[in-house]
Amino acid sequence: MPVPMLAANWKMNCLADESAELARSVVEGCAGLKGRDVLLAAPFTSLHVVARELAGSSVSLAAQDMFWEQSGAWTGEVSAEMIVDAGCSHVVIGHSERREHFGETDYTVARKVAAAHAAGLIPLLCVGETLAQREAGQTAEVVERQLRGGLFEFEQAGFASLLLAYEPVWAIGTGHTASSEQAEEVHAGLRTVLADMSDTDTAAGIRILYGGSVKPDNVDELMACPNVNGALVGGASLKAEDFLRIVHHREQSGVI
Ligand code: PGA
Repeated sequence: MPVPMLAANWKMNCLADESAELARSVVEGCAGLKGRDVLLAAPFTSLHVVARELAGSSVSLAAQDMFWEQSGAWTGEVSAEMIVDAGCSHVVIGHSERREHFGETDYTVARKVAAAHAAGLIPLLCVGETLAQREAGQTAEVVERQLRGGLFEFEQAGFASLLLAYEPVWAIGTGHTASSEQAEEVHAGLRTVLADMSDTDTAAGIRILYGGSVKPDNVDELMACPNVNGALVGGASLKAEDFLRIVHHREQSGVI
């Protein structure tokens, strides 16, 4: 079983001071943490200050997006190299909010994933269906298309470190979490596709995170699913206490 990854997605929240304070609390709450990895996806403007807070800790830093070109006349864009320079080891790519509001497609996702890998960043690729697609019975087909499309230009060598997040669009920020059965079914399907794209051993080691209204009171059940290897947490990651409860999920029972 891969080591679980608990990732915070702060989205467009937190000024620099607030980011530093939140990161500091997470670092304190993760002291001595074993058997799980923690990642903070901060807004671009906070990356430098958060990197300073995370220095010397086991908590990693991610950007929430990037552009695939290396440099040049791309007003408003941020390159992989800039993100690395700001202290990031990871980058979130293809979040549904970017697909929905900013015209992200499987093609742009694929280019970003490939460029991230080439720059030494670990991509956290997000896939997920809308409510209409779920109700039409298209969930498996949609997430497979997003996965294959997003990894179209990705090199086999990157598969082992790749992070994948299944985030049903209808569960993001809505308070409607997928049931553990729904999550497990999609995660198992994604792993089968990953095995087809690489091999069974590699696919078994890829962490597939669940995202969409993960909270302190539902994380234990979700993390009990064999194919759920972590969580990508939006709203509940903005309160250190809640996020740390999620990081420390299931510890009381000694399950992990
Ligand atoms: P949420 O967001 O936890 O607020 O639903 C998750 C995400 O969008 O990554």
